Amino acid sequence: MITVKQISRSYPHCEALKETDLQIQDGTFTAIVGRSGSGKSTLLRILGGLDSPTSGEVFYDDISLQKMSEVQLAAFRNQHIGFVFQQFFLEPQYTVYQNVEMPLIIGAVPKRERRSLVEKQLAAVGLLHKKNALASSLSGGEKQRTAIARAMVCDPPVILADEPCGSLDTENGAIVMQLLRAMAGQGKTVILITHNREDAAKTDRIITLEDGQVIDDATF
Ligand SMILES: Nc1ncnc2c1ncn2[C@@H]1O[C@H](COP(=O)(O)OP(=O)(O)OP(=O)(O)O)[C@@H](O)[C@H]1O
Ligand SMILES: [Mg+2]
Repeated sequence: MITVKQISRSYPHCEALKETDLQIQDGTFTAIVGRSGSGKSTLLRILGGLDSPTSGEVFYDDISLQKMSEVQLAAFRNQHIGFVFQQFFLEPQYTVYQNVEMPLIIGAVPKRERRSLVEKQLAAVGLLHKKNALASSLSGGEKQRTAIARAMVCDPPVILADEPCGSLDTENGAIVMQLLRAMAGQGKTVILITHNREDAAKTDRIITLEDGQVIDDATF
């Protein structure tokens, strides 16, 4: 379970999150919605240990992210959290295979084990035939499927996705939603930021933020 306790995040001219509390159960698929500037990305970055709150704490079971050093946090992210962003953040000059292999190298997985793990994830997103293509040569949908394979390759229990369909057409957006749904079906905890009401409706729970606070929290 992920527990957010009294998280606040201040910037010089605004308070992006205000004393937010949340609990997210393992294996659930949660959408975070809200207007632009409501604090969604700030919350997801803090949930993922990519940013620190001004006050408050995030727990994965009884492990506090705020008690970890930067090195411990990086290792924790590598093992526990897969990230998917609207802008993909692939290394353009690397191949699809190399992009997906990267978290395994960071995690010190031996080379002889890496190939089958990478190929399994590429097959799962339907991109095994593109493994030697440069990331820069891919379509938007292919880039996001590569990013999803990369997020999944270390088999993390948690997937955090910030508008993963935001740069995609309807058809590719639907493919990405199916992949996220399938991950939740496999027992992963999936948290999705979306502006799309239809996509939010495909999840188990919709948390609505406004001005850095949870104003609605509906479980289905
Ligand atoms: N690095 C930063 N420096 C200063 N202010 C920031 C910074 N990052 C975010 N903010 C502010 O914090 C508030 C919340 O931003 P956040 O990016 O979390 O919103 P969001 O809900 O993800 O919006 P969007 O839907 O547009 O992505 C906004 O007012 C934003 O301007
Ligand atoms: Mg955002």
